[in-house]
Amino acid sequence: MSTAKVFITYAILEKGINLLKEKFYVDVYDGEDFLTKSELIRRSKDADAIVTQLRDPVDNEFIESLQKAKIIANYAVGYNNIDVQAATQKGIFVTNTPGVLTEATADIAFALLLTVARRIVESDKFVREGKFTGWKPKLFLGYDLFGKTLGIIGMGRIGQAVARRALGFGMNVVYYNRRRLPVDIEEKYNARYVDLDTLIAISDYISIHTPFTKETYHLISEERIKRMKPNAIIINTARGPVIDEVALYQALKNGKIAGAGFDVYENEPLLTPGLEKLDNVVLLPHIGSATYETRDKMSEMVAINVIEALEGRIPPNLVPE
Ligand code: DGY
Repeated sequence: MSTAKVFITYAILEKGINLLKEKFYVDVYDGEDFLTKSELIRRSKDADAIVTQLRDPVDNEFIESLQKAKIIANYAVGYNNIDVQAATQKGIFVTNTPGVLTEATADIAFALLLTVARRIVESDKFVREGKFTGWKPKLFLGYDLFGKTLGIIGMGRIGQAVARRALGFGMNVVYYNRRRLPVDIEEKYNARYVDLDTLIAISDYISIHTPFTKETYHLISEERIKRMKPNAIIINTARGPVIDEVALYQALKNGKIAGAGFDVYENEPLLTPGLEKLDNVVLLPHIGSATYETRDKMSEMVAINVIEALEGRIPPNLVPE
């Protein structure tokens, strides 16, 4: 057994931890609250590998404090919490967990879409509160999915998995992506490429699947929100800062669009004040990948990345700089 130390900044699922324990000394933080930045630095500085969470601020200061690290393995597909350039300059690998959470995240996006469109949360509350006195013609009217246009922003793995679901629901799919997809993939999902402003203007439903980068910050700006259809429902399971959340809150509050489903927030875990009071939103606590199967696979993937790096090989899931 090697003497290398792996520090895991928050307890992940056992499968990955056990794989790592077979080979290395593993230090797992298993408290409830996340570590403060100074604690993170203190416990990571002599580690050979660090398994980080999407809310750990892996910035230049953190990276500079690392004395031996060969790899930072993020327990997420997104890696906007990591200064990849600073890590690369220091010769530290950065990896993520692509692919394994695609279907779980697409399920949550679709669950939000249905839940907002058909007012599931409001209806459930109504029944629980003893207000259901019998069927009524206008009770909890929502919106159809069938025949409607779904605009997918970001047509990578998760966007495509959402498109596949939309096909089954009889929706028309349009998409916007940095690069247009090959025709055979467009045909597979019956998806039409449009520019972002066209997507915003013609979609009944909009689902965000783009990573958070400098370019996608407030991609869904106040201006764009103003150009959405009055019946539009927007779903975000990607990253909060892609949407101007205050502007979206105003639009939802004033009935300018029909609804929204959030799994992520601009200043997570804080919400724009008042959002929690609106009936036309559904709010989830960032559970896109939260299934037993998926989180198990994510833990296995971070373990494999760490093992490869600490045994002198290139880890399979290096992120682009
Ligand atoms: C990710 O992996 O980036 C998700 O947001 C959390 O699992």
